[in-house]
Amino acid sequence: MLRTTTCGALTIKNLGENVILCGWVQKSRDLGGMTFIDIRDRYGITQLVFNMDDNRELCEAARNLGREFVIKASGLVVERSNKNLKMPTGEVEIKITALEVLNAAKLPPFLIDDETDGGDDLRMKYRYLDLRRNPVRNNMIIRHKIAQAVRRYLDGLDFIEVETPVLIKSTPEGARDFVVPSRMNAGEFYALPQSPQTFKQLLMVSGFDRYFQIVKCFRDEDLRADRQPEFTQIDCEMSFIEQEDILNTFEGLIRTLFKEIKGIDLPEVPRMQYADAMRLYGSDKPDTRFDMQFVELNHLVKGKDFPVFDHAELVIGINAKGCASYTRKQVDELTDFIKRPQVGATGLIYLRHNEDGSLKSSVDKFYNEEDLKGWSAALNTQPGDLVLVMAGTTDKVRKQLSELRLEMGNRLGLRDKNVFSALWVLDFPLLEWDEETERYHAMHHPFTSPKPEDIVLLDTKPAEVRANAYDMVINGTEVGGGSIRIHDRALQALMFKHLGFSTEEAQKQFGFLMDAFEFGAPPHGGIAFGFDRLCSIFAGLDSIRDVIAFPKNNSGRDVMIDSPSTIDEKQLNELKIKSTV
Ligand code: AMO
Repeated sequence: MLRTTTCGALTIKNLGENVILCGWVQKSRDLGGMTFIDIRDRYGITQLVFNMDDNRELCEAARNLGREFVIKASGLVVERSNKNLKMPTGEVEIKITALEVLNAAKLPPFLIDDETDGGDDLRMKYRYLDLRRNPVRNNMIIRHKIAQAVRRYLDGLDFIEVETPVLIKSTPEGARDFVVPSRMNAGEFYALPQSPQTFKQLLMVSGFDRYFQIVKCFRDEDLRADRQPEFTQIDCEMSFIEQEDILNTFEGLIRTLFKEIKGIDLPEVPRMQYADAMRLYGSDKPDTRFDMQFVELNHLVKGKDFPVFDHAELVIGINAKGCASYTRKQVDELTDFIKRPQVGATGLIYLRHNEDGSLKSSVDKFYNEEDLKGWSAALNTQPGDLVLVMAGTTDKVRKQLSELRLEMGNRLGLRDKNVFSALWVLDFPLLEWDEETERYHAMHHPFTSPKPEDIVLLDTKPAEVRANAYDMVINGTEVGGGSIRIHDRALQALMFKHLGFSTEEAQKQFGFLMDAFEFGAPPHGGIAFGFDRLCSIFAGLDSIRDVIAFPKNNSGRDVMIDSPSTIDEKQLNELKIKSTV
């Protein structure tokens, strides 16, 4: 070892020891007769002191050190006269007797400190320097700890970690695939897995019984704060189980993680039907850190000649507690918010429950005091509350009010990052109608089993068929999802038929799985957690980028290695791909 200890270890207990430290120059201060250098490694910072009177040559060498030089310093641990009790090593300093520059460094393009002056782009280009900063490195450490805790928990329950292939087969379901051309099979392509779904099911057929994998997945979809083109799942599957067993096993995992990583006793995770989540929150991933549930007002507002409400399929409101004092400007801001193209609503109606008890709405022309009392009772308002009402077609207006609810949650400080509210959402619809392709798609994926009692509806009312599918939501983020699977060839074939596959197409794409079902497939089910999402919630971050060592930017680029990039003509020729440029 080049060093005897780290830059975060020395305290008053080590006085009088001779030590050797290695690390990066954080900063230096030249006070004439004395030079102080802060040396940093991943464990902390230690102060080195050079005295002109003791050793002029060493002191001069110290003065020539630039920021981020890599050095090796030997010396004696002494007590500091000017102590800094805020840092663990702040009571001591090292009186240096030998100094070696292991490597010089160019001036870094931004400050390597907890607070930096570097913008996003610059930090991404020099991500290896950004990763030297404590907050960024700490996120990686949380990620590491969560991964280890996951492995301990699942290993303790006899789960076996199995690696599945990364070069697989493109399928039309789900998001877009990333594809990889095959040199040895000209004109043919592998796809990178969007998840190891079919492989983990095959492992169940193989009798593995309990499988998990912390695994990279790839999806060519538009990016958002909680989406990266390559991301990591904690992917799990179990045999001979029912939905209840999956929910209990993985609720156990999440509660263990909260306990081990955050020291928090997460209460039992409540469960909600998908239909109720949509009705009460307009979302299948409601943020349940705060209430503000939707209240339906159709029966109270229709038939009073207010055309917007009369023509609407659904009129719903929320009670923003304590907001009756909102000024005109603040209400206008909310109206602008819901009119933004991302939300796409046309208008917002309000009812103020004033402090003096009086009720005042923005549609007083159509509704008298008795009417407004009805609204107030439905929304359980108190003096000081503000009711916000929206109207439209059911799906759209729910989505729009859901956005407004979250905005109000933000404004009212109800979405504290240190508060955690988890929820199981159960009984998702099996199918969803896709306007673009004009056919049903599997809402989760085509291997999810319908609820047995709903199978009869597949032909007549496909949209009403519920699936044995569940999501875990924490603070309004979908952190995991899974289902009980189909394990019977005939039912799987029926599903493909309903998804618009011909028998030939289904056999071509998924024949391997249906064939496997004929060789003794056990009943099975599973779940996959978004590992990056879990880490970002535990670290209190807004974006999963911050828990990924080398993430892609919003255009899916890695600006550090400059990827994706063109490849040369020779490579294209080998792959039998014609260049179009
Ligand atoms: P699903 O598609 O719901 O299910 O994915 C599981 C979880 O993965 C996370 N996730 C993502 N995280 C970051 N970036 C992305 N682009 C991204 N896409 C998804 C989410 C999500 O809940 N095979 C099934 C699981 C199963 O049925 O067992 C699957 O992949 O947190």
